[in-house]
Amino acid sequence: MTDRYAEHMPPLVPPEDVHEMSRHMLAKCPIVHSDQDHGFWMVNRHEDLVRVMQDWRGFASGNRGVRVPTMPVDQPPMPPIDSNPPLHRKVREIMNPFLTPDALAKFEDGFRSIIAGLIDEFAADGHCDLATQLAKQFPSQITAQFFLCVTDQDELDQLRVWVRRLSYDMLRDDPKVLAVVQNDWTEWCQRLVDKRRAEPIDDIVSALVHTKVEDGRQLSDPEVIGAIQILTLGGFSTTSDATSNIVIRLIEEPGLEQILRDRPDLIPNAIEEIMRLEPPVTARPRRATEDVEIGGHLIRKDERVLCNYLAANVDPAEWDRPEEFIIDRTRNRVMTFGAGPHRCIGSNQARMSLRIMVEELLRRVTNIKFADGQRETRISFNPSAWRAVDSLPITFIPLV
Ligand code: HEM
Repeated sequence: MTDRYAEHMPPLVPPEDVHEMSRHMLAKCPIVHSDQDHGFWMVNRHEDLVRVMQDWRGFASGNRGVRVPTMPVDQPPMPPIDSNPPLHRKVREIMNPFLTPDALAKFEDGFRSIIAGLIDEFAADGHCDLATQLAKQFPSQITAQFFLCVTDQDELDQLRVWVRRLSYDMLRDDPKVLAVVQNDWTEWCQRLVDKRRAEPIDDIVSALVHTKVEDGRQLSDPEVIGAIQILTLGGFSTTSDATSNIVIRLIEEPGLEQILRDRPDLIPNAIEEIMRLEPPVTARPRRATEDVEIGGHLIRKDERVLCNYLAANVDPAEWDRPEEFIIDRTRNRVMTFGAGPHRCIGSNQARMSLRIMVEELLRRVTNIKFADGQRETRISFNPSAWRAVDSLPITFIPLV
């Protein structure tokens, strides 16, 4: 069975319509086949998503032959996100110790100083473009400084350009130009790997280069480079969009700014609930490794399955009053960070930096509004990636 939305998948579906699309699919066709992009299935129900995401044997991750839409540029493998066990497990075992709440606690002051410094640059003005002046700035700075140990501003700027070209511009730009961009970034990563091989420090890159995985071998350079690239892509972009989405909800949800000022202990709950309603990563793909039936549909071996987080996060079978913002939800099996073995490894870092962002913003500004009736500008460039906020002009009353 096909459906009018499945025939016009994002980016053809405008970003403003993805919520309506998800509502429609949940109600009318929770599992649906699209003939677009060589064909793929879209799975929308929470229960079905959990099943697909947890069953890594039946639904494999990957890049070539898995991504929806098919990428115009052949990106090198990026473990762990597009690998499967055993490599997947090995790479996560190396990364994990750097991303636990305990390991991150020592960076809290550093994160806070970066975020507060950026807000201080515009807080007295009474207005800013929140997306460009804050949301797109701190996640990349934090990832570069604390996880790649890159502090040079020119290098950070260059990394930002590469990430933007290989995510936002991926489906718009000339594939030949993008292939050069991919190659330049990979060469930069190779130089970083060579540096850490010669002089290891206490960071993720050195651990990826030097740790012997369980079969006694070290990761190959392409595997380490892929891991650096997915950490960079994950670290730079998703937290940016979550930041803008949080500020939009602070504007739109009556009384929320005051509630969080009075009860800062509710900030983490509020962030979770906002990310449920507006997940920055809207969908992720898998490939069936054998014939399988889901919800009465036969998905054949090697067919691709796109898991729609945005729909699963508002599935009425999972949540009461699914479209409402409820700050103290107790049952919250949110799909924003995925589920199963590929569940986001950076979720602790994202949550910590978003909490600090809200704390520092509310300390410095109040009465946040959209500027002159303007709204955010969104770009939806890839249904298996994320729905980005490109600009967000706001006004506020400075408290400093
Ligand atoms: C609000 C912010 C974030 C959101 C919404 C988000 C979302 C996700 C989702 C949905 C997945 C699962 C992908 C799949 O199952 O195919 C994922 C995986 C991943 N994320 Fe995040 N992410 C965020 C922040 C971060 C950060 C800050 C980092 C870097 C430290 C990061 C690094 C990764 C990596 C490396 C994976 C692959 C994990 C694996 O395959 O085992 N993410 N993320």
